[in-house]
Amino acid sequence: MPYRLLVIPGDGIGPEVVEAAMHVIRAAASRYGVEFEIKTGEAGDVALRKYGAAMPQDVLKLADAADVIFKGPIGESAYDVTSLIRMRYTLYANIRPVKNLPGVPAVKDIDCVFVRENVEDVYVGAEYKVGGVAIALKVITEQGTRRVARVARRYAEARRRKVTVVHKANVLRITDGFFRDVALEELKGLEVDQMYVDAAAMELVRNPARFDVVLTTNQYGDILTDLAAQVAGGIGLAPSGNIGDYKAMFEPVHGAAFDIAGRGVANPIATILSAALMFEWLGRRDAAEAIRRAVEKSLEAGIKTPDIGGRSSTIEVGKYIASIL
Ligand code: IPM
Ligand code: MN
Repeated sequence: MPYRLLVIPGDGIGPEVVEAAMHVIRAAASRYGVEFEIKTGEAGDVALRKYGAAMPQDVLKLADAADVIFKGPIGESAYDVTSLIRMRYTLYANIRPVKNLPGVPAVKDIDCVFVRENVEDVYVGAEYKVGGVAIALKVITEQGTRRVARVARRYAEARRRKVTVVHKANVLRITDGFFRDVALEELKGLEVDQMYVDAAAMELVRNPARFDVVLTTNQYGDILTDLAAQVAGGIGLAPSGNIGDYKAMFEPVHGAAFDIAGRGVANPIATILSAALMFEWLGRRDAAEAIRRAVEKSLEAGIKTPDIGGRSSTIEVGKYIASIL
């Protein structure tokens, strides 16, 4: 049975980086015998303008039917589309590996995986305004914390067995304190430490090599993963996977970058490495590793976009990586 794959190209540079990544996905699928039934759906700012909804009903139906979603970045309506997908399918763990790549100038050496809680915290979107007071709800549940902590445990067990739990329980004693307590319980037996989010931001720049798996809440994870991506050489290289128990969605960490859209200069590597995460989630580590090796080879060969010192176009990078699979 082929996997039902929904591709959402998105806005800005989205269609370019996704097209480049599709070359890689098709090549890896045929080389490693993975069958996909591919559908494409328009969602985001363009869909909002054309159909009056950032996530049109027919795309939502395709998403419901899909086993896996592969998505480019989205512009102004990113929260509507991205959070809707994360919440609707309870994609509760956001996996964001951060690692140096050959030939990419970096701030420091880093090799860690962020496991970001992905459906709770202030991201539940419960905001209120009454007169001169605006309020947002921060939601942390025991079940939500346990399940994401278990994902962090699995990653740590496959790596250096070390987890850093990041929170701000010195201020948010009840919410972040609960997250910390439940997480620590789930992580027993591993080498576990904890850090306040402000200190973690500092440590990520000062001594990023100290981190193996980082487990944190939704909003802190959002902020720290942009920071960490830059430490490794830039957000154009950072992949992510939104994982639930039955469905998953893969996307680059970066945004739609309207300022450089349509010029063929966007770096497709974040999106291509997100495809590697997708194959890994499908249980095809062989294809995932092959994509990662091919990305490294393309960088070593100097086939790269201008943001990391190359002269190749988005699609050239995609086609080159696909060709060496
Ligand atoms: C991300 C993005 C999203 C987030 C936005 C677009 C809603 O920044 O995936 O990191 O904040 O989670
Ligand atoms: Mn973000």
